[in-house]
Amino acid sequence: MKTTVKVWDPLVRIFHWSLVTCFAVAWLSADEWQDLHEVAGYSVMGLLAFRILWGLAGPRYARFRHFLRSPSQVIDYLRDIWQGREARHIGHNPAGGMMVLALILGLSLLTFTGWLYTTDQFWGEDWVEETHELLANLLLMLVGLHLAGVILASLRHRESLVKAMLTGRKRAPSEHDIS
Ligand code: HEM
Ligand code: HEM
Repeated sequence: MKTTVKVWDPLVRIFHWSLVTCFAVAWLSADEWQDLHEVAGYSVMGLLAFRILWGLAGPRYARFRHFLRSPSQVIDYLRDIWQGREARHIGHNPAGGMMVLALILGLSLLTFTGWLYTTDQFWGEDWVEETHELLANLLLMLVGLHLAGVILASLRHRESLVKAMLTGRKRAPSEHDIS
């Protein structure tokens, strides 16, 4: 019997760790090193474009259709966590799937407002700069929640999701798990 199964394809893994790197560089270079900031920010934009295509046309576990659930299903899942009886999911769980959507939408708005601020028409507009900064702070909070979710799920199901995002493999599903 196989003890592990392949979940995250190489492109999802490369996407994820490149996104982490570019996001960190964009944060650290903000207000310090504008050229680098814009290169990192545009790289995030490129990575998002790839991930959206991959969510539509990629393999099973990468597809939006596989992991996006309705708000009420996400709430049910959060209630299950609260009651300590949530199912193990082989792909993203419903809350994780919602987080992926929030991160993709949030980062899209963030990079869009960053670009907007560099255009002749909006350069120097306070509201654009303030929106960009607000979104950057919001994204940092979302990333904090994202990490909390990763740690919680790893503890609850006794497997490192971080390791799975590196190797692409997870423990094979048992009969109660959702694959
Ligand atoms: C060192 C920090 C981070 C760690 C350890 C980490 C870990 C992970 C893990 C384990 C998953 C898979 C979750 C699952 O099994 O359902 C994941 C997914 C994801 N993470 Fe992170 N993450 C980090 C930082 C970030 C940052 C900074 C961003 C964006 C700004 C981000 C965006 C995402 C996205 C979009 C996914 C979905 C992957 C996909 O399906 O393409 N992560 N992360
Ligand atoms: C993940 C992507 C990004 C993050 C996390 C991010 C974050 C930030 C932060 C925190 C600031 C400082 C705001 C302030 O204190 O005024 C900033 C400023 C700025 N960002 Fe971004 N940004 C990103 C993408 C982009 C992109 C794609 C562009 C456009 C090319 C851009 C252009 C700018 C500009 C022009 C400023 C300076 C505003 C000023 O002169 O004060 N950013 N960004």
